[in-house]
This record gives sequence, structure tokens and C-alpha cells, in this order.
Amino acid sequence: MTIEGFQQKFGIIGKSKEIKDLVDITMQVAQSDISVLIYGESGTGKEVFARALHGYSQRAENPLISVNCGAIPEGILESELFGHKKGSFTGASETRKGYFEMADSGTLFLDEIAEMPITTQVKLLRAIETKEFLKVGGESVTRVDVRFIAATNKDLQIEVESKRFREDLYFRLKAVTLYIPPLRKRRADIPELIRHFLKSFAEQNNTPPFSITDDAYDLLMNYSWPGNIRELKNCIETATALARTPYLSAANFENLLRQDNYSAASRNTPVLLRKSPEDADREFIYRALFELKKDILELKDIITSKLQDLETAGLIRPPDFSIATAEKEAILRAMQKAKWNKHKAAELLGMNLRTLYRKLEEYDI
Ligand SMILES: Nc1ncnc2c1ncn2[C@@H]1O[C@H](COP(=O)(O)OP(=O)(O)OP(=O)(O)O)[C@@H](O)[C@H]1O
Ligand SMILES: [Mg+2]
Repeated sequence: MTIEGFQQKFGIIGKSKEIKDLVDITMQVAQSDISVLIYGESGTGKEVFARALHGYSQRAENPLISVNCGAIPEGILESELFGHKKGSFTGASETRKGYFEMADSGTLFLDEIAEMPITTQVKLLRAIETKEFLKVGGESVTRVDVRFIAATNKDLQIEVESKRFREDLYFRLKAVTLYIPPLRKRRADIPELIRHFLKSFAEQNNTPPFSITDDAYDLLMNYSWPGNIRELKNCIETATALARTPYLSAANFENLLRQDNYSAASRNTPVLLRKSPEDADREFIYRALFELKKDILELKDIITSKLQDLETAGLIRPPDFSIATAEKEAILRAMQKAKWNKHKAAELLGMNLRTLYRKLEEYDI
């Protein structure tokens, strides 16, 4: 297959030297079973390349299982990866296959590998090296034939230095590293990407593709694209959805691009990104959680004060915690259940008959 054919097949747009070199290496390593580490900023196409690696391998017909190590709670990551035996922890009511087994004879794609806790990293390294692992709570090893691809947007070298990532696992993974440069380092790809997304949105909406004015083009060429291809794609999609003319001009994009990120880029100076898209997302979620908590506290206050009003008005009974009341209710329920047969009721209550008689009188039942 040619480089162009490969790009066509896996939807990889780009004519820059960076992309061509990357595709070349991808095609070479895809065929072997060697583990591959894909490294690049958010939105650069790590997942696209992971799919291409699998799709061009001998394993293409077998499953590609993607696991986002950052999205699974730490506490259950190991059982998700390796599976667990029935009864190995509370809630493990069935023996369950993990992603390793599901990926057997195929490829396991470990996305956001830097988010994996150290203890799990140890087990992962062993599994990669021996192709065997233990299920959580299991005693016998399970063997699998899996090819590993890992991806990260963090510099693992730094993670290793700050002891968040195991050096041995890092060395194991980095043997083949595919580095996907950010879009601002391969601006030659921008025009084709713009054309590609304009065409694909037009096809989706059954309209002729929008044309794009020179000033819009300049703007997009000089912007720093901190969110990379994902940001470019979203930006074109939004601009076309909101456009009232059959062409897109700079005005259609200005509000969509982060103001502080294009003048610097056009001067070709290094751009300091204030916030990565992930940090921005995280901050957004925290804020939403905070608001939610505030709402819940307010609701709680409203409900408490309403309940007090109703009690004061005599519309509801205040909660009664006395043992006597509870006992009277229990006796009543038991009597009803026993169809007023005192022997049966006493049995249900675990009370002797004599006591029951006395209580019936006492509570005036
Ligand atoms: N070379 C490319 N040609 C065409 N589309 C691309 C290319 N690279 C990425 N894309 C598109 O950009 C979007 C982001 O790509 P992808 O999900 O692979 O990025 P990522 O590096 O995995 O990002 P993240 O780190 O946020 O998970 C996807 O919609 C993908 O289809
Ligand atoms: Mg991804």
C-alpha cells in the first residue's frame, strides 16, 4: 500500500513532511507485534493513529479494545483490565472478563496511560512481558495474545522524574514512540484539513460546501490551534452551522477562536497556553459540581423550613422516635398479619403470649 492509500483508508489528512514521516513509520511498525507509544497534545489524532496501527496489522480482523485509563475510577481499573473472580470483592457477583481477555488475539489500546496508578502499572508491565496475568481474586494465570498500544498527552519522562510513572514500564513502552506534532508545528496541513471538514459537513447537511474568504483563511492559518485538529474541526462545524452566507469570512470565526492565541502565533513566537482543553473541562466540571452542591443545600433548607411550617400548622405529625410508639406499631402490624390470632402474633413478635396480652391492654389495642 502507498502512503497516500494508507492515509485514504484511515482518514489521515495531511501533506506535511511531519505527517508523511509519521505515516511511514506507522506502516512499518503496524505489521509487527511490538508495543507502540503514541505521544501528542490533545486533539492531534492519537486515536486516529491507534486505529490505523490496528487496522493495518495482522490483527485487523480481531477486536481493538480501547480503554481510557483516565476515565475509569482507580478503584475498579484493575478489575476492569484483568477481570475478576466471583466473590473477590463486595459486588463481584459473577466472574467477569477484563479488557485484556476481550482483546485476546487483537489489540489493547490503553489511552491516557499516564493516569494509570503506580500499582496497576506494575501489573501491566508484568502482563506485557509475560503475556499472562491474574484476575482480581484469581489464583491461576490467564494467558492472552495481545498487542499493546498506549497513548498519552503527558511527557512520560517528566512523569517518571516526578515518580508518577514507573521507569521500567516507560522504557518498555517507549521503544517505538510515534510523536504527533501539534497542528501549529505543521501548518502546511491546515488548508487540506479545512477543505476536508468543509466538504464533510456539506455532505452531512446535503448542501454545497462553503467557500472561505482570504481573510478567514489567513486567520485560520495563523491561529495557534491549542486544541489541534479537534478544535479546527469543531470550529469549522460551528462556523458553517451559524453562517448566513454561502461563504465564510473572518467574522464567522473571530468569536470561535481564543483571542489570546492568534496574534502571538502569527508573530511566530512560542505561545503560552493558559489552559489546556482538559484543564478547562475539569474546571468547568468542578464549577458545575459546586453549583449543584449549592443548589442541593438550598433545597435542603427549603424543605426543612416547609416541613416546620406544616408541623406548626398541625398538618403533619412531627417524627416520633419513642420506643413505645414503635412497639405499638409493631404489635398492630403483627396482629393484622396474624389475622388477630394472638398466639401467631406473639410468635411473629418473638414475644411471649403473656407479655403480648399485657401490652395489648397497655396500648389499648
Ligand atoms: N490527520 C487527521 N486527519 C483527519 N482528521 C483527524 C486527523 N487527526 C485527528 N483528526 C480528527 O480530530 C479529532 C481528534 O482526534 P483524536 O481523537 O484522534 O485525538 P487525540 O489525540 O486522541 O485527542 P485526546 O488526547 O484529546 O484524546 C477526531 O475527530 C479525529 O477524527
Ligand atoms: Mg484520544
